[in-house]
Amino acid sequence: MPFAFADTSDDAIPLHVIGSDDLDQQLADLPPMASAWAKAQEFKGTLGQVLCVPDQTGQVELALVGYGTVEKRARGRFHMATAATKLPKGTYQIANGLDQPDLEEAALAWLLAGYSFDTYRKPKGEIAQLVAPDGIHATRLEIIAAGEALTRDLINTPASDMGPDELEYAASALAADHGATLNVITGDDLISSNFPMIHTVGRASVRAPRLLDMRWGDAGPQLTLVGKGVCFDTGGLNIKPGSSMGLMKKDMGGAATVLGLAHMIMGLGLKLRLRVLIPAVENSIDGNAFRPQDILTSRKGLTVEINNTDAEGRLVLADALTLSDEDEPDLVISMATLTGAARVAVGPDLSPFYTDSDAHADAIMQSGRAVADPVWRMPFHEPYEKMIEPGIADLDNAPSGGFAGSITAALFLRRFVESPYMHFDIYGWQPSAAPARLKGGVGMGARAVLEALPKLLDL
Ligand code: BES
Ligand code: MN
Ligand code: ZN
Repeated sequence: MPFAFADTSDDAIPLHVIGSDDLDQQLADLPPMASAWAKAQEFKGTLGQVLCVPDQTGQVELALVGYGTVEKRARGRFHMATAATKLPKGTYQIANGLDQPDLEEAALAWLLAGYSFDTYRKPKGEIAQLVAPDGIHATRLEIIAAGEALTRDLINTPASDMGPDELEYAASALAADHGATLNVITGDDLISSNFPMIHTVGRASVRAPRLLDMRWGDAGPQLTLVGKGVCFDTGGLNIKPGSSMGLMKKDMGGAATVLGLAHMIMGLGLKLRLRVLIPAVENSIDGNAFRPQDILTSRKGLTVEINNTDAEGRLVLADALTLSDEDEPDLVISMATLTGAARVAVGPDLSPFYTDSDAHADAIMQSGRAVADPVWRMPFHEPYEKMIEPGIADLDNAPSGGFAGSITAALFLRRFVESPYMHFDIYGWQPSAAPARLKGGVGMGARAVLEALPKLLDL
């Protein structure tokens, strides 16, 4: 079974994790045969180095995994994934060399190393298995890994097979798995139900726009997750150049990430009420596409002048956020691949987030560090509010100049929410392979949020 630890420790091969600080001492602590073999093979304990030690019959008796230096480790995360993919197939059990919480990170790294996206090619096959180390939250990690895999699969699936309809199907499959309900408003019903901006952004596509509304749980505080589900972003009439459009199948990365997070929350049976809102649209080009200088009236009643049809995410999110506010949740969290500016600011590895609550910010920062899901706080900087006020309407969807583009987008979203609110401007994509993260779709911020939920919601 994928994303699971080995179901038995019988015949597991002991795995010794050996750093390169203090190498000689660590090698001296190994059984004499292994120590001699490691020296003969020039095992240096560098990060990701793997050495199998045979017994007299040539069978692997134990394995060594290099853990590098403190400085080298600090330059990345999930290092154990490298070893997991290099080791010959078999079942391994970490014998020593790691303490909490490194053990927890190593175990998750191992599970995630088993991810591959095989829908459109011959499956790569399974990797070596790990016996769940003592003292870690094994089932929790399995559920987290499965949620992350769901996020990656959804992002990696090309837009031809992941339009609004297929995204709805993915949400309904998830809901069915966990006994959640899913309500969907599609096409022209968006107009009669007063989601004008979701309809306007999505109407140029032959694939009808929709709003997905999933609910789960009947007791506890209410958490509402809102994910940007732009299944492909051409930019609309303000068409993107080819180089910028190339990755835009991932523009439903926010939706994919909140669905992965929902899987974790429901799978773990957390004592909360969960609502997930996803505006699922395709930002296409057609005779009936919305245009620059059109003025839209949002669900909330605020008017928005369109200065760039490529700033579509904040439009569809605004109507969904207005709905999220209507049942007074304890916390609203939006996740969206919202701006290129966020990437310029923090690159692909960090999830920038916004909140007005210092306590929430501290909780998320701390959790992000604890679970190797790095996040960084950005400011809802009030003096920039005037940048999103064009004069001719209440709001401007794309301030000219682009200064502070991620902040102005976040300020725009905040205008539509009154409940406690947190927003993540994520990338959703791993640009080149790293340990436990293949090149391609990746969840960002979900594990940090999951870890912080007890503090965010007083669970
Ligand atoms: N989906 C994009 C943002 C994006 C681009 C995320 C590249 C990740 C990588 C979004 O819809 C968009 O196009 N935003 C514009 C906004 C601008 C027109 C105000 C941007 O960031 O350029
Ligand atoms: Mn866009
Ligand atoms: Zn977009």
